[in-house]
Amino acid sequence: MAASIADADSLLGDAPWARADGWRAGGSSLVAKVRDELAGIVVTATNAIHPTRDLVFMFVPDKFRRQGVGTALVNAVKTRRGVPLSVKAHPGTVAHSFYKSLGAVRYQLCPPERIDASHAEVRLWASENRGEAVCAGDRFTLPQLTEAWTDMYAVVHATWSPTARRQTLLAEFGPMIKEELDQSRSVFVLRDNRITAACFVFGTDQDPEVEAICESLDPTSASARQDVAACMAEVLTDAGSNPVMFDGHITDPHFYPTLQDIPVLTGRPLELLEIPA
Ligand SMILES: CC(C)(COP(=O)(O)OP(=O)(O)OC[C@H]1O[C@@H](n2cnc3c(N)ncnc32)[C@H](O)[C@@H]1OP(=O)(O)O)[C@@H](O)C(=O)NCCC(=O)NCCS
Repeated sequence: MAASIADADSLLGDAPWARADGWRAGGSSLVAKVRDELAGIVVTATNAIHPTRDLVFMFVPDKFRRQGVGTALVNAVKTRRGVPLSVKAHPGTVAHSFYKSLGAVRYQLCPPERIDASHAEVRLWASENRGEAVCAGDRFTLPQLTEAWTDMYAVVHATWSPTARRQTLLAEFGPMIKEELDQSRSVFVLRDNRITAACFVFGTDQDPEVEAICESLDPTSASARQDVAACMAEVLTDAGSNPVMFDGHITDPHFYPTLQDIPVLTGRPLELLEIPA
């Protein structure tokens, strides 16, 4: 049944994303009840950036698990929306088993991509791959950085996850770049006054890990691989003793092959899964 405001509020402790049904246009929220007790919630959200799949979150309290409640909730919300749902999970986790039981199919893989920047072999790799054309992000304006991020985002997702129109992406990404990007730790390669590759660093220098996303903005250019390596090398060098958590995909044209060159990768693979409509 549709989740009320009271239903959603009572689940916020376990499911901070819980909302009442209709919480936003296209946003569904359903709950299951067993003898008036809340036995689970599923919430979906339209995805402004990747409009072909809705996002979905679900929670079933311990005492109601393994009784088909989660499955019933996801099936009910799928019937209502009629679009595929996208989720992320590490293989081997309960969430992954649950999604697979719903017929979820992997459409992308994020490889292990955590790097100990203080490791001697990593430092050697970084010193060998730094480049002269690299500059820090604080020389650009926020609109320039939003444009560059949008260009890179389009390159990375072009083959496997349709994106919204460019104007929509710019409007969605602008506030994120303003609030979350660390301009001075982000690095860029400039050629002929154009950004050809970038490594965007998010968060602050107080965070335990450096969060970085890197790719060429011009992937067919002859220098693309070298430029991406130079950006990654610069971020690894700046990181000092902090680990760097890159965030990319196995289809990224230059980031992924370059990542494979770096010694000592750790972390767990993460699958992006589609639960069919
Ligand atoms: C994941 C979750 C929603 C599953 O809800 P549920 O009502 O227990 O799921 P179902 O009973 O419909 O399970 C369907 C199938 O999923 C798989 N599954 C569910 N829980 C599992 C577990 N603990 N271990 C292995 N497989 C599991 C099984 O294949 C199961 O079928 P089976 O019971 O016939 O073997 C629930 O465990 C939960 O809320 N977990 C914490 C929050 C979470 O991880 N949410 C997902 C990310 S938003």
